[in-house]
Amino acid sequence: MKVILLGPPGAGKGTQAQFITEKYAIPQISTGDMLRAAIKAESPLGIEVKDVMASGGLVSDELIIALVRERVGQSDCQNGFLFDGFPRTIPQATAIVDAGILIDAVVEIAVVDEEIVARLSGRRVHEGSGRIYHIEHNPPNNVGLDDETGEPLIQRPDDSEETVRNRLDVYHKQTKPLVNFYTELATSGNAAPTFSSVSGLGLLSDVQERLVEALNK
Ligand code: AP5
Repeated sequence: MKVILLGPPGAGKGTQAQFITEKYAIPQISTGDMLRAAIKAESPLGIEVKDVMASGGLVSDELIIALVRERVGQSDCQNGFLFDGFPRTIPQATAIVDAGILIDAVVEIAVVDEEIVARLSGRRVHEGSGRIYHIEHNPPNNVGLDDETGEPLIQRPDDSEETVRNRLDVYHKQTKPLVNFYTELATSGNAAPTFSSVSGLGLLSDVQERLVEALNK
């Protein structure tokens, strides 16, 4: 199963990816997590992308496409994968088609902007694993600590309200057009992926159910 999760920042892509990758036994490919790991390691890639990520802008298509090409060539991707946060632009989506990667399903998780600002201010993350919590909607067992390791949770530096609003603006301009791209691709036949849009509002378990239904289409 090869899946793309689309949706604005804070829609719940990473949260639901954790569930889908377990259910279908496929790896999660989160370009955001890969870039954050590069920043933490202070690698040349990390140094190059640090400022643009902090501002909420997008990293160049060239860098992202090279990163993903290398990742999908690894052995754990042979039976499929889930793209979380990729593609984010039309050139990135076109690169998938040009590389001959046959995606089975594209699912958009739709959430309105104001809900997103509220969600991201309450997000907490375990840096080592990328496990995601919310102080109200999905709290850890012990306040501020990761359930598995007991290590402290952090707030992402790009989750301040000003940066979130910029990320939303970038999303509407550069990523939202992918909904039309995949809607049209889905009707073109030729082993094209299915396209569905599900509401990302409500309980995590309700969103999960909607996603499973969309993936089984
Ligand atoms: P990235 O890490 O991909 O961030 P994003 O797409 O902005 O998405 P988020 O991780 O913020 O949100 P999410 O949808 O995963 O939501 P989550 O599950 O955490 O990208 C970061 C940056 O990297 C970009 O800005 C860019 O600079 C760069 N980048 C990455 N990929 C790139 C690419 N392809 N091209 C160019 N640049 C790229 O949920 C959010 C919160 O809500 C959590 O607290 C969660 O617990 C809570 N929540 C989840 N579901 C619910 C629910 N149903 N009800 C209530 N709360 C909920």
